[in-house]
Amino acid sequence: YSPKEENMINAHQFVAEFYHHLLMNTEEGEKALNYLLKRGFTREDIESNGIGYSLPVWDSVTVLLERKGFSLDEMVECGLIIQKENDHTYFDRFRGRIMFPIRNEFGKVIGFSGRILEANESEAKYLNSPESPIFRKSEVLFNLDKARASIRKKRQVILMEGFMDVLAAQKAGIDNAVATMGTSLTKEHITRLKRLVRNVVVCYDGDYAGWEAAKRAAEMIYNEQMDVEVVVLPDQLDPDEYIRKYGSESFAQMIEKPHAYMAFMMMYARRNKNFQFENDILQYIQEVLEHLVGKSSPIERELYIKELSKETKISEEAIYAQFRKLDADFSKNYKRAEQKNTIFSGQIHSK
Ligand code: UTP
Ligand code: MN
Ligand code: MN
Ligand code: MN
Ligand code: MN
Repeated sequence: YSPKEENMINAHQFVAEFYHHLLMNTEEGEKALNYLLKRGFTREDIESNGIGYSLPVWDSVTVLLERKGFSLDEMVECGLIIQKENDHTYFDRFRGRIMFPIRNEFGKVIGFSGRILEANESEAKYLNSPESPIFRKSEVLFNLDKARASIRKKRQVILMEGFMDVLAAQKAGIDNAVATMGTSLTKEHITRLKRLVRNVVVCYDGDYAGWEAAKRAAEMIYNEQMDVEVVVLPDQLDPDEYIRKYGSESFAQMIEKPHAYMAFMMMYARRNKNFQFENDILQYIQEVLEHLVGKSSPIERELYIKELSKETKISEEAIYAQFRKLDADFSKNYKRAEQKNTIFSGQIHSK
């Protein structure tokens, strides 16, 4: 780290301890502590994750950081405080929220996510640290520092949508889960995981947004030549809600039996389709075949085309014929693109 980054990390460590103290040992933190206990966190969980509480005032962290001799401009840059535009005075970014420290893969606190106690329309449920020299959202994976050993050992990582889900999984004995921080999955996240493990189990929320996000994530991971599987939770539940409703054991079983990539893609394509309508059948077959074109092995093809035929009552021969057509188009386009690339690179003169 540069000296500036070092200051920022030290400040985060210091502020995390302050928030944690407020939660555990003060009257002001009592409501937040009760909220967490009611959500099933034990004091031990709170300790081991360093969870805290920020006072609902404008300048507690600002005053503290100034007294400790931190440069307030650096503190603005790393997002702990904010500078007003008109009179250039400073104030705390996080006020009256439950504070979850976000650590980098070496275990250093580099940011926070603050949850309001009661959901309301005027404020975001979670307020996250802004992008900063130490906190890069496109790279950060929540819990990677703690999960690393288990990910290596189990040769598998569970990818979740919310860090609350990761914490719930941890309590349920699943210690190889990570989550992105309020952004969708990026290539950098995947690169980071790929250095540790080949098998990713995507376990996003069971609501509409979760399905969409899971499909996007699974495709991205698949395209990085990793082995991706997907857990689909019922009743729009997220992992945390599922564990509370059905228990840890049931959740562990879900994680042990994820859907293969193609099986999930078929489920996804089948959603909102009614096989009493010809159009829906045609569209369904088309969508699934598009996933098989270009990448699948002959065995996968046979497996999923058989499955398609069973589901739609269209003969395997007809579906194969359609597949060959799509595959021929795909190869033609592929060759054309390759040719273009050759012509193009021929015009470039390397130094
Ligand atoms: P969810 O809305 O699914 O949150 O957002 P959750 O994990 O279920 O939280 P609880 O159970 O209501 O407390 C998933 C993730 O999206 C980001 C956070 O990173 C969260 O973990 N998010 C969500 C935000 O950044 N801001 C928000 O206002 C909401
Ligand atoms: Mn969600
Ligand atoms: Mn697979
Ligand atoms: Mn959720
Ligand atoms: Mn939740």
